[in-house]
Amino acid sequence: MSGRVIILGSLNVDVVTRVERLPRAGETLLGEPEGRLAGGKGGNQAMAARRAGASVVMLGLVGYDGDGAAYLARLQDAGIEVPLPAAHDVPTGTAYITLDEAGENTIVVAPGANAALSDAGLDAVDLRAEDVLLASLEVPLQVVENAVRRAKDAGARAFINMAPYAALSPDVIAMADAVIVNESEMRLLAESGLMPTSLVVTFGSAGARWDGAEVTGIPLDSGQVVDTAGAGDAFCGALAAALVDGEDQESALAAANRAGAEAVQWSGAQPDAHL
Ligand code: RIB
Repeated sequence: MSGRVIILGSLNVDVVTRVERLPRAGETLLGEPEGRLAGGKGGNQAMAARRAGASVVMLGLVGYDGDGAAYLARLQDAGIEVPLPAAHDVPTGTAYITLDEAGENTIVVAPGANAALSDAGLDAVDLRAEDVLLASLEVPLQVVENAVRRAKDAGARAFINMAPYAALSPDVIAMADAVIVNESEMRLLAESGLMPTSLVVTFGSAGARWDGAEVTGIPLDSGQVVDTAGAGDAFCGALAAALVDGEDQESALAAANRAGAEAVQWSGAQPDAHL
């Protein structure tokens, strides 16, 4: 049986506002609404892994509302298996994103249904040795920790994207096949004293490093960069898809770099993301 990419993570509606420049603390700016877009690190990673050709299972929760229904339909239309139904009595998670003219952003997340994900949700999938689990940290951390333990018990590979950064228990960090961080998360990880067995670090357009393997990124003109939101998620999803397909570290990094470079060239964290 061929392996699947199992994504554990958030499903958010991204409420995006374009501004000339990002606001300073205490400042009010006027901006242009971009709309309500499909986002969340989990959803973005699932869509990226699917675009890369993987069979994908998405373990995440939306609320029982219009946004949640639209998002579930979007994932299913893309061919992603979504075993968990919408959660009652909680809204779909919302990310408030401010996007400047250079494509840089600030993001504040109200987790909503993402916070309702529990260990019971992990029962929705039977992990197999050929699978690759990819978990990010906008869902309850103990669920991430238990998912990694279950993946390793099943003989599957498990990757933790430590975004947004949060400390996990040292045994879980050590048992993950690799931890994936950007430069600021790498600094926080180093300060924490946590010791991953293997580390993937992303450097934006400069490329990425996986322990001893380093792959240069794809240079882009500033005019090509429309929106950097979701670029790291595209990298992680494509990396997982390449690994489940049997690619080695260097070719998986190269595929992930290509996906990240592609993702900054469209508006939103996923292509055609309007809900
Ligand atoms: O990484 C980008 C994502 O972070 C956005 O889609 C937003 O929902 C937050 O989860």
